[in-house]
Amino acid sequence: MTVSITFAQNLNTDVLIIGAGGAGLRAAAAIKEKSPQTSIIALTKVSSAQKSHTTTAQGGVAAVDPKDPYDKIIFHEYDTWKGSDCSSDQNVIRRVCSMAWEEIVWLEHNGLHFSRSAEGRIMKRPFGGHTLNFGEKKAFRACYEADRTGKGIQDTVYYVALKNNVQFLTETIFTELILKDNRCYGAVVYDLNDGVFREIRAKATIISTGGKAKMYLVTSNCRQNTGDALAIVLRQGLPIMDAEAVQFHPTGIVGPGILASEALRGEGAILLNNKGERFMERYAPTIKDLAPRDLVSRSIMTEIQEGRGYIHPAHHMPHVMLDMRHLPAVVHDKKLVEVSSFFKTFLGIDPKHDLCPVTPTAHYQMGGIPTDVDGQVMLDEQHMIAGLFAVGECAAASLHGHNRLGTNSLLELITLGRVVGENAVEYISQTGHEPLTYECEYTRAMFTRLLSSKEGKESQFRIRRQLTELMNRCVSVFRDEKLLTEAIQGLKELKEKANAVSVQTDHLVMNQELLVLWELHNLIDVSMTITASALARKESRGAHFRLDYPQRSDDYHYHTLCWLDENMDYRLGKRPIDMSIHEAEKGDVKKKFGIIERKY
Ligand code: FUM
Repeated sequence: MTVSITFAQNLNTDVLIIGAGGAGLRAAAAIKEKSPQTSIIALTKVSSAQKSHTTTAQGGVAAVDPKDPYDKIIFHEYDTWKGSDCSSDQNVIRRVCSMAWEEIVWLEHNGLHFSRSAEGRIMKRPFGGHTLNFGEKKAFRACYEADRTGKGIQDTVYYVALKNNVQFLTETIFTELILKDNRCYGAVVYDLNDGVFREIRAKATIISTGGKAKMYLVTSNCRQNTGDALAIVLRQGLPIMDAEAVQFHPTGIVGPGILASEALRGEGAILLNNKGERFMERYAPTIKDLAPRDLVSRSIMTEIQEGRGYIHPAHHMPHVMLDMRHLPAVVHDKKLVEVSSFFKTFLGIDPKHDLCPVTPTAHYQMGGIPTDVDGQVMLDEQHMIAGLFAVGECAAASLHGHNRLGTNSLLELITLGRVVGENAVEYISQTGHEPLTYECEYTRAMFTRLLSSKEGKESQFRIRRQLTELMNRCVSVFRDEKLLTEAIQGLKELKEKANAVSVQTDHLVMNQELLVLWELHNLIDVSMTITASALARKESRGAHFRLDYPQRSDDYHYHTLCWLDENMDYRLGKRPIDMSIHEAEKGDVKKKFGIIERKY
């Protein structure tokens, strides 16, 4: 039986923002500041923008205060470059780091309550890989609101959006870009509330849908982070960049996988193995527990694999311990109150008195939809798509290369969010709504197929479990040829099984069964790009660590591009890494932005 889907009347807007988290709503604010009359529709997959994943960010946002007597923007730039293992784009680093403090001030003026010292100054804490004087000692650079900084940012940008009459469409799913002749005219969406599909015609479209780590068994990501936008652009023939660069945060809470913020180590918590040793002293003698995330995650996994970890009695997960017992009561009760409550809620332990079990958790994608420094989306190595921007975790400009420093993601949201908003205004001032007949072929084909299959016997929930186990086992902190090849084969088999799932409920209003099946396809497709890109990169760089190629190799000094067709066959390409700081600077500073050794 073929089920047909219904299309409702189109909507029109000046700017369509797909994803209403920190990046999308910071872009909205920038648009309204520059051009108050611009109409904006902001789409969110969840029931309120306030449920966006940005709200879960904990530890802080990196920014150098120009009045700071010790810290300098050039140190932040250097740390970001070194942290990325020499694979971020330096034009992006320069732009983001130099805008950082202005954005802190903007947030403050719009209502964010940063934590403040007794003298009334914005408080800053150290974070992994952030240093003074090119690696000499830790920098206090992460501005924070206790351990709920992301919530503070989201509250602020949401309030600005409401004040400026941004129109929100909630529980509405982005299914296709309206693309023609290298130009974007908006998007096709599926409104779960009334079960209809519609085109939203826009002069400019911004994709800001966040992360995608739900293909992993252990992840800090929210339920909605299923990589939908990435899968959609792949289906429409666009590439994904640096998909292999998946960040595993070292301290996921055993059980749920949610974060125990790096801020805990910033405030003095230390990691211990089952012998009670502070093992990070061996792996990063200078900055120890505050080494960058890729290094700490590998160190934890090495401790576990060499028999110095624990197995959790209830969750049966290998882990190490985070020790916070020595921290002053004020740190537990005022600065880290949310995270402390997570340990109490999920594990029934009190960080003031108990050791806390933690394990690496899939946290962040450094790669994503490739854009230039202005946030405009690449069609291929040579061409851009007019009227289409991407920003935030779903995008790769790339600020983070193959390893992101903690607190640089909130920074990216607010800085590049503003850049993209301003560029969207500039773009729409030169363009109008064009008449265009569009058939919505990807949406029609996909959803008709998902709804029409009635014979399949496979369980989508079993397939999803198998997917997360496969990715956690084969495409995780440590990788090698054998594991990655096994994952490629496994993903092809899972795709075949997913094609044989039938949906029992064929109505379209709030059809969660359909939604979850569509997400399963998205997760499998995106997993293939992660695995294929990881297999091709025969070196170790940042969070991409190959046991069979443990060194970084200059032969791979480029970004990976990956395309995927409907048969799960992939094609790879390259994008050069921007080295403009290295080219512009002189002497010692120039050397710091060259291909440098990465030791901590
Ligand atoms: O550890 C954390 O608080 C996470 C911060 C980040 O991912 O930037």
